[in-house]
Amino acid sequence: MSFLSRLRRPGTRKAGAVALTVAAAALFAACGGNHPDSIFHQRTDFNRDVDFLFRILIIAGTAVFIFVEAILIWTLIRFRARPGQPEPEHVHGNTTLEIAWTVIPLLILIVIGVPTVRTIVKTQAAARSDALQVEVVGHQWWWEFDYPDQKIDTANELYIPTGRPVYLTLCAAGFGYGAGPPSEPGPPAPNACQTGPPDGFPPAGIGASVIHSFWVPALAGTQDVVPGLTNHLTIQADEPGVYPGQCKEFCGYAHAEMKFKVVALSPADFEQWVAEQQAGAEAPTQTEAEKGFQVFQANLPAGGHCTDCHAIDGLETDQGQPILSNGAPNLTHFAGRSCFAGCSLANNDENLRRWLEDPSAVKYGSFMPDYGLSPEQIDQLIAFLNTLE
Ligand code: CUA
Repeated sequence: MSFLSRLRRPGTRKAGAVALTVAAAALFAACGGNHPDSIFHQRTDFNRDVDFLFRILIIAGTAVFIFVEAILIWTLIRFRARPGQPEPEHVHGNTTLEIAWTVIPLLILIVIGVPTVRTIVKTQAAARSDALQVEVVGHQWWWEFDYPDQKIDTANELYIPTGRPVYLTLCAAGFGYGAGPPSEPGPPAPNACQTGPPDGFPPAGIGASVIHSFWVPALAGTQDVVPGLTNHLTIQADEPGVYPGQCKEFCGYAHAEMKFKVVALSPADFEQWVAEQQAGAEAPTQTEAEKGFQVFQANLPAGGHCTDCHAIDGLETDQGQPILSNGAPNLTHFAGRSCFAGCSLANNDENLRRWLEDPSAVKYGSFMPDYGLSPEQIDQLIAFLNTLE
């Protein structure tokens, strides 16, 4: 039975149609649904531009594919070998055809190339002068967000106003970067990002300085975060909302847990957030939280202090020392964040308890050690952290 007559058999056609329908359904099911971090939502100019290029490529690619396959299949059938057929005539060269298959691909490449280059230039352009400046520091394994003009230093949640470009300066932090412990300030960081505001200290080294990649699929493409290099990315959100982000470059054990959120607020709400963040923390007044603040500065059972790494602006230790950031997230407004530990955990008492019992058991590879805290100390610390609104 020939290939064609086999195709004409009704059973085969029905099975083929079913298979095709199932495959198409599977394909398009993946595109639908409510995926918050899809690049296809067209929420920003960036995504609209990229989506436009994607469509040109898909349409042009599909047209070329159908055209080439149609000619190929037609040729295979029309010119297939038949019994007793003489050897076909050999031909060489056809100027018209050769010009055609040079000019047509050239036109297709121009149609794809011109908007592509234009989009690249547009997305790589320096930020508008009214852009909000944010320094993004990739740590192992969490994101630090510093607002140099607002003097805000926060972690894992990047707050931005809607309708205004946000110019990100991206750096990687790790060993060898930034200052030593606050008692002995070192040289400034060799890259442009300075954690610093409001304490003025550059990022200190916890974790190795490795390559990360910053990605908020719903708002923008990716930008690598490379040790010793300063990269930039402009993002903008048109609508208020929470847009999930993720480190997209393998950077060690907890790479998959190196998440973050972009929280877009209306300009008025954003200004309110800024004002709240600029306020320092207030000393706890309630007994359990006061005890927690004591634990926070105490020499912990396994040796070391919370204050060795974590900053809390506005508070001082009992010795009158400011509590400065030294490589770990600034906790000044910790209770106001919805997530912690590289946004791998929702910020609630239960997760905090699991985290403080043994950080690495929750987020493998975490540089926060297991300090051997007693259950009582953990409860006190949680009470204290909950006051840091
Ligand atoms: Cu940082 Cu992957």
